[in-house]
Amino acid sequence: MDYPSTKYGARRSGSHVCCCVCTALVLIVVAVFITLGLTVFKIRDPTMTINSVSVKIPPDSALIPANMEATTDSSVKNPNILALYYEKPNITSYYGDVEVGHTEAPAGVCPARDTIRLKPTMNLNVTKMMDDPRFAAEFANGAVDLNTTAIVNGKVKVLGVLSHHVDLLFNCTVTLDITTFSMKNHTCWTHMWFWKRKN
Ligand SMILES: *[C@@H]1O[C@H](CO)[C@@H](O)[C@H](O)[C@H]1NC(C)=O
Ligand SMILES: *[C@@H]1O[C@H](CO)[C@@H](O)[C@H](O)[C@H]1NC(C)=O
Ligand SMILES: *[C@@H]1O[C@H](CO)[C@@H](O)[C@H](O)[C@H]1NC(C)=O
Ligand SMILES: *[C@@H]1O[C@H](CO)[C@@H](O)[C@H](O)[C@H]1NC(C)=O
Ligand SMILES: *[C@@H]1O[C@H](CO)[C@@H](O)[C@H](O)[C@H]1NC(C)=O
Repeated sequence: MDYPSTKYGARRSGSHVCCCVCTALVLIVVAVFITLGLTVFKIRDPTMTINSVSVKIPPDSALIPANMEATTDSSVKNPNILALYYEKPNITSYYGDVEVGHTEAPAGVCPARDTIRLKPTMNLNVTKMMDDPRFAAEFANGAVDLNTTAIVNGKVKVLGVLSHHVDLLFNCTVTLDITTFSMKNHTCWTHMWFWKRKN
């Protein structure tokens, strides 16, 4: 660029340099936020698959045990180009509306376009399940449905520095086969929030 030289030339070009630096900085910040916005809003839901559930029954238990230890082998797939850094997932199982088990999985990272395995173990309170009148009928049919939710607070990092909060909720309905104590069927949904989840 050509600037007319005046007697204030030196001072002018000084302020021009300053102005260019400021403009460049503003443009960089704008570019970073556009990238952040585009990347964050293009984030697709991670998906959860339950590979297997194994149930251990205390050896000294009665015909119907009071407690069962269930270990779930699940995979979480992150389809995004951003890694997902997550805090301890909060895992709760419900029978009907009643909470019958709770556990936490360790915190970690789900790398970009990758799948991680989670193998949380939780105690299921069979006494609480039996309090539900539907339990006897389901038990007699050999299959019990459990609703399990995993609440995950996490964040994604854009350009290695800027991070954005992401909350995930995985809801799975798992049908347990009572005769083999293994999983018969399952369905999972994912819900995602980019700002703090209410409640
Ligand atoms: C996880 O569950 C526990 C007990 O229900 C609760 O106190 C805690 O706030 C939960 N954490 C998250 C991140 O939801
Ligand atoms: C599990 O959740 C589904 C959908 O929210 C509901 O229809 C079903 O009754 C629940 N089943 C149990 C056993 O809690
Ligand atoms: C299971 O639930 C029953 C009834 O709510 C309660 O009395 C019992 O202490 C619970 N058992 C465990 C191991 O938490
Ligand atoms: C998933 O779980 C949440 C909270 O536990 C519940 O509000 C929501 O209705 C569930 N969604 C499905 C599809 O089961
Ligand atoms: C598994 O669950 C899905 C969805 O709830 C259902 O459509 C399907 O029939 C079930 N499969 C078996 C073998 O029960």
